[in-house]
Amino acid sequence: MALWGGRFQSSSSALFKEFNDSLHFDQALILQDIYGSIGWTKAIHQAGVLTFDEQQALEQELLNLSKQAECGELDIMSSGSEDIHSFVEAKLTKNLGDIAKKLHTGRSRNDQVATDLRLWCRDQISILLDALNHCQRQLLILAENNKEHILPGFTHLQRAQPVRFAHWCLAYVEMFKRDCQRLNFAKTHLNQCPLGSGALAGSIYDIDREKLANDLGFDSPCLNSLDAVSDRDFVLELLFSASTGMMHLSRFAEDLIFFNSGEANFITLGDQVTSGSSLMPQKKNPDALELIRGKCGRVFGSLQALLVTLKGLPLAYNKDMQEDKEGLFDAVKQWHNCMLMAGEVINSIEIKSDRCKKAATEGYANATELADYLVTKGIPFRTAHEIAGQVVLYAISQQEPIERLRLDELQQFSALIEADVYSVLELEYLVDKRSALGGTGISSVNQAIDKIRHELGAA
Ligand code: ARG
Repeated sequence: MALWGGRFQSSSSALFKEFNDSLHFDQALILQDIYGSIGWTKAIHQAGVLTFDEQQALEQELLNLSKQAECGELDIMSSGSEDIHSFVEAKLTKNLGDIAKKLHTGRSRNDQVATDLRLWCRDQISILLDALNHCQRQLLILAENNKEHILPGFTHLQRAQPVRFAHWCLAYVEMFKRDCQRLNFAKTHLNQCPLGSGALAGSIYDIDREKLANDLGFDSPCLNSLDAVSDRDFVLELLFSASTGMMHLSRFAEDLIFFNSGEANFITLGDQVTSGSSLMPQKKNPDALELIRGKCGRVFGSLQALLVTLKGLPLAYNKDMQEDKEGLFDAVKQWHNCMLMAGEVINSIEIKSDRCKKAATEGYANATELADYLVTKGIPFRTAHEIAGQVVLYAISQQEPIERLRLDELQQFSALIEADVYSVLELEYLVDKRSALGGTGISSVNQAIDKIRHELGAA
């Protein structure tokens, strides 16, 4: 039975009912709907709508329902209810009779759904933060276990300067830290309570909205009833957080897909996160990573879809807003799944140390070092850069790395070059010289590891 039958003379068409009903996706809000309803029973008891016994009976029945929901004992879909709010009310009415019909006094599904959805987002944010922490811990372990390995760092996908593999790992830890900050920000931002705003104009009942907000764990009530029922900024903010988080995961995936390619060949991914080809027996494809990269599309799409849905909506509630949920639910689920998958991929990585080192020494990645060496001999950096460039050109013509050129060859370009240049050009030396805060030198990397370990509370 619909919640709004009185004004209608005939029933909805089957097609309309299927088109309009949201139960098949908003059933995900059942626990939040029950929790919010318990808060509402207290508020309307205080306002004199329910007696204490009625409030207690409703609260008890709502708690029973919530237990059943948690155990998966409710066959929600077969109820034929329009949405989860109707389902919960119908269930209560079936079990309690007329008392249950008082629950919706002063409440609208408009302030109800806005409240449920905020509660859902708040719950999910805690789960997402746990997953982000897990990923950071896995990366920290990978960094700690592979501190000695050096591989080329890239700009323009050209070998640029060598970096420690641990430094690469910790770059993603920084991104995930920012994802956590964004989620925490979204959490404080969403923590205002719409309930008590009614359909759009506020409540005629004497609802203590401060107390209601407090009972439901919100920081404060929403301050304008029109805004309260029509605001979905909090959904956008969570979708933006998910999109940024997915973008980070996608760059992570792309780096690893490249590192794992036959061409780079820096790492091996475990069998547990790769798959084969039905035709080419030799293949071992990085499917987990490609899917992480691929799932970005739908998450970004959900953010874009909701922005477009909201942009032309007049105040206050419009049914268009029911379209906020499926994209949100999917985006949060995909992001969470991708983080779990990324954690497993991280666990499976093996570094091909020799191959990384070889690639890091090739490609004239120590040319900057030669320029810096000339600076220490008193040459201005711009001139030193020019000289080092000429050395690279010469070395390419000789098909040799810089450090394999003889001293007399090097001295053709500057008489200030001496035998001590060879130690400067050596891989570990030039990497570890980058010891200022945030650099790839071993002392900086060790410092970063300690700081992150401390921040994550990892032993
Ligand atoms: N299912 C709706 C939604 O998700 C809530 C119901 C509001 N319905 C209404 N007729 N005002 O937005």
